[in-house]
Amino acid sequence: MSARVIAIDGPAAAGKGTLARRLAAHLGLPYLDTGLLYRAVARHLLDAGHLPSDPREAVAAAIRLQPTDLERTDLRTPEVDRAAAAVAAIPGVRAALLEFQRGFGSAHGAVLDGRDIGTIIFPEAAAKFFVTASVEARAERRWKELQQKGVATDLQSVLDDMKARDAADESRAAAPLVPANDAIILDTTHMDAGQAFAAALHALEKTVLFFRKEHPLRRQECERTRGTAPGPSSQGFTASCRHRGTG
Ligand code: DC
Repeated sequence: MSARVIAIDGPAAAGKGTLARRLAAHLGLPYLDTGLLYRAVARHLLDAGHLPSDPREAVAAAIRLQPTDLERTDLRTPEVDRAAAAVAAIPGVRAALLEFQRGFGSAHGAVLDGRDIGTIIFPEAAAKFFVTASVEARAERRWKELQQKGVATDLQSVLDDMKARDAADESRAAAPLVPANDAIILDTTHMDAGQAFAAALHALEKTVLFFRKEHPLRRQECERTRGTAPGPSSQGFTASCRHRGTG
């Protein structure tokens, strides 16, 4: 059992990133958006003039990937969306990125979001969520985001793109998007971010003993880490203890 790993999977624009970030901040765990790994590999290939579907170059780029590559600000363009989907379908790329993800979560626990966290990367995660919403609701959210960024596009083409990405994620042979058998399904079609967070936290405290504030190990962790060495885990646990009124 990966005692402090929370896996959050689901299709694009279902709200898993927002939920994952909020849970991580609340529980004091590091957070990894694993989609950024595929996006960073795709970005390298595009920059070097290679095809994103070239397995040899893609695997080489995945092996060379550095944590700082995830900080690039040009990973969320439509060009990278498409290239990342091609890169993510290459089994060698997935294999090369697996250890990075496991290493990230194993050290201090973590919240990771992606497509295969609960099924492949951390099948022993303490808690797994599959966050979903109707494709129409997801397309509308993405369309509003794009409008706020000043990107001119129509809702129908965002909906068409979303359906194409769903089909690519669900039908690829390597790690297709499916809920883990033991995942908690969270349908956010009629929820805002706050409601999704409250529902997930409620489920977490009900099903995973460690995340209950009265759990002895959690209390010990709060006491051990209060005001001590820096680090995402200890800082977060302190914050989390404070939030819960236990520290
Ligand atoms: O979540 P995202 O849109 O940033 O993901 C980018 C691409 O990477 C998308 O095509 C799905 C893929 N992906 C994946 O296959 N496995 C993951 N764990 C995360 C993302």
